[in-house]
Amino acid sequence: TVDIVDNGRVRATLPSGESIEILLHGATVISWKSNGVENLWLSEKAILDGSKPVRGGIPVVFPVFGPPPANHATSALPQHGFARSSRWEFLGSSKSESDTPKSAGDDTVKLDFGLYSNGLDEKSKSAWPYEFGLVYSVTLSKDSLRTMITIQNTGDKAFEFTTLLHSYFKIKDVHTARIAGLSASPYVDKVLKTDATQSEPFVSIPGTTDRVYYPPGGASTILAICDASGASSNPAGTPRFEISRDNMPDVVVWNPWKEGAEAMGDFAPKGDDPKGYRGMLCVEAGSVKEWVKLEGGESWEGGQVVKSLL
Ligand code: BG6
Repeated sequence: TVDIVDNGRVRATLPSGESIEILLHGATVISWKSNGVENLWLSEKAILDGSKPVRGGIPVVFPVFGPPPANHATSALPQHGFARSSRWEFLGSSKSESDTPKSAGDDTVKLDFGLYSNGLDEKSKSAWPYEFGLVYSVTLSKDSLRTMITIQNTGDKAFEFTTLLHSYFKIKDVHTARIAGLSASPYVDKVLKTDATQSEPFVSIPGTTDRVYYPPGGASTILAICDASGASSNPAGTPRFEISRDNMPDVVVWNPWKEGAEAMGDFAPKGDDPKGYRGMLCVEAGSVKEWVKLEGGESWEGGQVVKSLL
């Protein structure tokens, strides 16, 4: 079933019980449940009324990742651009249903959202005066969530963008979390302000972490978020999520830790509460190292498929 709630969010549920909830504000996926378990972290103080980007879920970053550089067409935009703080349109849903009740596990539902330059608020329009159309498709299947974005230049002036899916995963404990798939990858450490290379086979998160990885295999490497607290035949621990990427070669790993969470008004709970910084990890697929340039009429597509392994 697909329901539009309060004119501001869309909920979809599969016959087998999996569900997603998406706010039109930012087309932000704020909940994804499979096997009765929530997969995404959402701050208990996240602001969902459209006055701020959502602290949690999967905010969409476009047309600039991070603070915009000086002397660039995006310079007047806020951090991470306007897509996550604009109201998107719900374009509709499509289902694929299996024909026998036995194969109900193959059912999927796809929800499409659109954001167009002519629907932007005046502030964003004047800060970034280009003509574009974004279509964001969110597909729920039994064990996975697919989020794909298509960006089209609908005008005749070329523009450049970076984009990213700022996914907040709900995890058991960041202290025992490991990310597989980034070994030997160069990265920029935004905390230490240095360039480095991933020397350990897995990424672990010992404190405030803000890194942008540029894996040599680009989007072809599958990432896994694992938990190393129990016995596992996998050297990184028990895989909890698997992330496949399409046209999004770069990966941001972010956790603000206790101190960073303390400084964010919309981050809760605070302190060492297992539902606070310890219970979340952002692993963000994106295309952020190089600007993507789109001439008038051209389009670009990228995204991710996340599998929940329970
Ligand atoms: C990450 C950035 O993607 O997003 C961090 O790498 C940033 O530098 C984080 O702090 C959160 O950003 P914001 O704007 O949602 O507070």
